[in-house]
Amino acid sequence: MNTHSHYVKKLSGVSKFLLPPRPGFCYRGLNFRKAMAVNRSQAKIIRKWSRDGYCTLTLEAPAVAGPARPGQFIMVKVSDHGHPLLRRPFSLHARQGSNVSIFFQVTGLGTSLLARKAEGEEVDILGPLGQGFSVGEAGTKPALVGGGRGIAPLVFLADELRAAGVEPNVFYGGKTAADLPLREELERQGFDVFLSTDDGSLGFGGLVTELFGKRLDSFRPTRLFACGPEAMMENLSALSLREGIPAEFSLESVMGCGFGACWGCVKKIRHRGAAGWIKICQEGPVFAAEDIVWDGEERG
Ligand code: FES
Repeated sequence: MNTHSHYVKKLSGVSKFLLPPRPGFCYRGLNFRKAMAVNRSQAKIIRKWSRDGYCTLTLEAPAVAGPARPGQFIMVKVSDHGHPLLRRPFSLHARQGSNVSIFFQVTGLGTSLLARKAEGEEVDILGPLGQGFSVGEAGTKPALVGGGRGIAPLVFLADELRAAGVEPNVFYGGKTAADLPLREELERQGFDVFLSTDDGSLGFGGLVTELFGKRLDSFRPTRLFACGPEAMMENLSALSLREGIPAEFSLESVMGCGFGACWGCVKKIRHRGAAGWIKICQEGPVFAAEDIVWDGEERG
């Protein structure tokens, strides 16, 4: 018997895998020594939107939508033919009733195959997986900073914050105007959105971190939530620590399984002052700024 993907039951199209306990580094007291169940289901694509190499798929997925929290992700089987073999991780981008959306940029074979799927087709998904953002600790004036496709989980977070009575400021940056495909959606929803492009083709001309830094003169966020390229988040992390703004970052990683079985996603994270290798898929992908050991820090 495969001890790491032990089939437990199948009910209403939802299978559950029960993962046995693993010893190891324990982040912030999260106890993964207890067994953890992973939902597997077939989700119908009920809406598809694409533009400039970006795509949003809305999936009918009640087993994911019910328990989903902003910052969590799903693993999607992008091919029915065994290649590519591994599922791909996608942040949950939105939830509407029993549906969830994922938003992604077409960057390789996996995302290209997924972007070719049509409304009405089904995809095999696992989730929701991982640990999300601390919505309840956002305070009254949170700031969300998304770089490129990193905006994906922040839209779900913005929706949940609004549902909790908190209006976030959203900073959204990309290389060019074409890299900000969700700007209209965010503005249509009435969020305060601050745009930046590296080439100056839309909004502030420069990096989103510079824009955020400039706004700090007149705006003091109670908490910062961010997702995007590692260099962007590393800079934001240093700024948040310097300014004393509590911050959380959603880290990207290559993932083989998404639920703690393959050790393909490990990263150095601090816990009580000591750094240890932990699995991003289980104990993240969201971590506090002070706990992340950035690659730049490692290089010195
Ligand atoms: Fe397999 Fe994290 S992706 S352990």
